[in-house]
Order: sequence, then structure tokens, then C-alpha cells
Amino acid sequence: MRDFESEKRTAAREAVKFLKDGMIVGLGSGSSSTLAIREIGELVKNGLSIKGIPTSDKTKELAESLGIPLIDIHTVDAIDITIDGADEFTTELMLIKGGGGALLKEKIVASLSREEIIIADSSKKVAFLGKFKLPVEVIPFASAYVLGALAKLGGTGEIRKDSAGYYRTDEGNYIIDADFGLIEDPASLAGKLDHITGVVEHGLFIQLASKVIMGDGEGVMVYG
Ligand code: A5P
Repeated sequence: MRDFESEKRTAAREAVKFLKDGMIVGLGSGSSSTLAIREIGELVKNGLSIKGIPTSDKTKELAESLGIPLIDIHTVDAIDITIDGADEFTTELMLIKGGGGALLKEKIVASLSREEIIIADSSKKVAFLGKFKLPVEVIPFASAYVLGALAKLGGTGEIRKDSAGYYRTDEGNYIIDADFGLIEDPASLAGKLDHITGVVEHGLFIQLASKVIMGDGEGVMVYG
């Protein structure tokens, strides 16, 4: 029986070894990223000098509580390294992200990053993306239209809910969790989603990850 929590922790510990003094570091969101951010907090306490850019309000709060110095994204030309999680990945480094709802800032930060390191437990590795429903962030006003547009592309979708009603992202948008079955050509689907009016962003990350560090039992496997 695999211990996914410990695999995430092992991957997180491996990823933070890439951090060096002076770096601007993108801080991911989700449970794997939380483990990495806690490790970074320890390193900072022990003298590592980095500045972080959080990918969600929750991550910002966590980083602040650990004393990790932050920097405004508008003041940087690039991010040296980002450490983030994923809901699914393939060995070609294609990802589904956004299970935690932070995909928009995660994708912006990934796009600005020289190196995007994904940390994951071994349950996240798949031959084809799509078993995990694809998060699509939409302007609330466009949600019915986008559901129809997704159906035309062969997908079914549901607007994500939480205890308060419809789930809202940090930016106040809705998330549609879309089921396209197994996605044979993620780049092609990503291109089509990019063109639907009202879609703010989607969780297909293509050519953004530089490597995936996957916890694998006691050790790690590195892809990329
Ligand atoms: C947050 O929006 C997501 O993209 C997370 O990075 C992703 O859902 C992985 O989360 P876990 O590390 O909690 O599995």
C-alpha cells in the first residue's frame, strides 16, 4: 500500500533542493505545494534568501505565516523557479491542474517561470489525461454559454459547488469541471478551449512544466 502523503513530502523535499539565494520563487497551491512551502519556510528560517510569488490567497497567507518574504509579480521580469502540484501528469509533462481552483494564477506564474517544477505522488501519473475532470474557469455570466460550447466539443460539465453555493475562485469566477473522457490530444483541446468566449483559463498545462518530481515509494522519479 503506497503512502501518497509521504510520497508528496519526499517530492517536495527534493524540489526545494533547487532553490538558491537570490531567487524569485513561484509558490504553488494545493496540498503538495503546501508541503513544499513548509519546507521553504524552514529553509528561510535557516538563512535561505528568496522572494516568493504566491499563486492563491491561501498560499499567500501560508507563506506570510511562515515568514517567507513575498514580492509583487508586477515588479519582476521572470520567476526563477516555481514549485507546484498537479492533479494528473503524463511523462510528456502535460498536466491537468486546478483541482484546488487556483489554475489561473498558477498558469500565469508558470508562464513567467524559467523552471516549473511539478511535485506529485505516484497516483498522479497517467498515460492519458482526463480521468480527473478538467477545471475550466469561466466568467459567471458566461457559464451557460460555455457549458453549451463544451458540449459541442464533446464534453459534459458541471459548475463546481461548495457549501456556500457555487464555488468562486480568488478572482470571483466559476469553475466548470469538464469531462472529455480520456484526452488523446491535449494540445488540440487546449487550443479549442482558449477560443471559447467567457473562458478565463483552463487546467490543461501544455509545455509549461520543466520537470515532474514524483514520489515513488521511498524515493523519487524525475521526468523531464
Ligand atoms: C490547485 O488549483 C491545483 O492546481 C493543485 O496544484 C492541484 O490540484 C494539485 O493539488 P494537490 O497537491 O492537493 O493534489
